[in-house]
Amino acid sequence: MGKSYKIAVIPGDGTGPEVIAEGIKVLDAASAKFGFTLEYTNYDLGGKHYKATGEILDDETLEKLKKADAIFLGAIGHPDVKPGILEKGLLLKLRFSCDQYINLRPVRLYEGVNTPLKDKGPDDIDFTVIRENTEGLYAGAGGVLKYGTPDEVAIQESINTRKGVERCIRFAFEYTRQRNKHKKLTLCGKTNVLTYAFDLWERTFNEVAGEYPDIQTDYAHVDAICMWMVKNPEWFDVIVTDNMFGDIITDLGAMIQGGMGVAAGGNINPEGVSMFEPIGGSAPKYTGKGVINPIAAIMAGSLMLAHIGEQAGAKAIEDAVMKTIKNDMKSVEAGKMGMSTTQVGDCVASYIND
Ligand code: IPM
Ligand code: MN
Repeated sequence: MGKSYKIAVIPGDGTGPEVIAEGIKVLDAASAKFGFTLEYTNYDLGGKHYKATGEILDDETLEKLKKADAIFLGAIGHPDVKPGILEKGLLLKLRFSCDQYINLRPVRLYEGVNTPLKDKGPDDIDFTVIRENTEGLYAGAGGVLKYGTPDEVAIQESINTRKGVERCIRFAFEYTRQRNKHKKLTLCGKTNVLTYAFDLWERTFNEVAGEYPDIQTDYAHVDAICMWMVKNPEWFDVIVTDNMFGDIITDLGAMIQGGMGVAAGGNINPEGVSMFEPIGGSAPKYTGKGVINPIAAIMAGSLMLAHIGEQAGAKAIEDAVMKTIKNDMKSVEAGKMGMSTTQVGDCVASYIND
């Protein structure tokens, strides 16, 4: 008998429910094939729920979510809700209160996917960004004085703790070792300007590096990283960075791997409950049309299986996704796939069953 896992599902807003349905279809194909069970519990959270009830995420629901083996999230964001409310109240609240201190974002160009980078192919674009996920500018430290007056002062501080920085860097070294590709870890910072925060990052990085003699280390400023990601993406194996820089460079990463339709990520607490999501938003303009690409959500499902310990299932999903993209999809862009959202899910699931 295979293991059974409790999966909390938050389909969320916009195209979230459409892509999550395909993610579950594919997860079910993988669990049937590899003999484990996924028990889903649906949580109706997001913009619609907030508009209807005034509630974003209450403590009782949060406690239930924390008891799951993993959380599978679609998308959060509603055109009628002011930016910041749902992001902070739901997505960031979950990341922080579950202490998901790693945001793991693979950047991999699959065969058959168009990249905007000229002369670069799947061999050149294959790295992972490890983004610190609970501190930095996202910690919410700061405040406003004299709001709305000509003397207004707005302060938004970046919080970097030795503990937070070190656990993220350690995770990155371990990940680089296990990934076993080029065994190279690049720290992305801004040591020439942010001389307090990134001094802490750099010192910690160099100290921890001493315990990993098999890992080659490198450093680049965040602005330079943006240049190299475009010009020489093949230089990267694993990149570790803070919350804000990680947010920015992973959108760039998503674009060079073919766009939001394929980019997935994991919010990981290695000791607690982790959450997996496609990194694109709720895409209101595509909602309900059946044209959104579910591959990112399907790949978030693959990351989730790898995390809970179902490696064979995770790999089977990725292999099936690669076949679908190569053999069946015209493009990975929404509306240009030559297939509907559901057909993409069916196709990936059928390759798993083969
Ligand atoms: C992401 C998103 C979020 C972030 C937003 C929606 C709060 O952009 O997951 O990258 O900035 O982390
Ligand atoms: Mn982002």
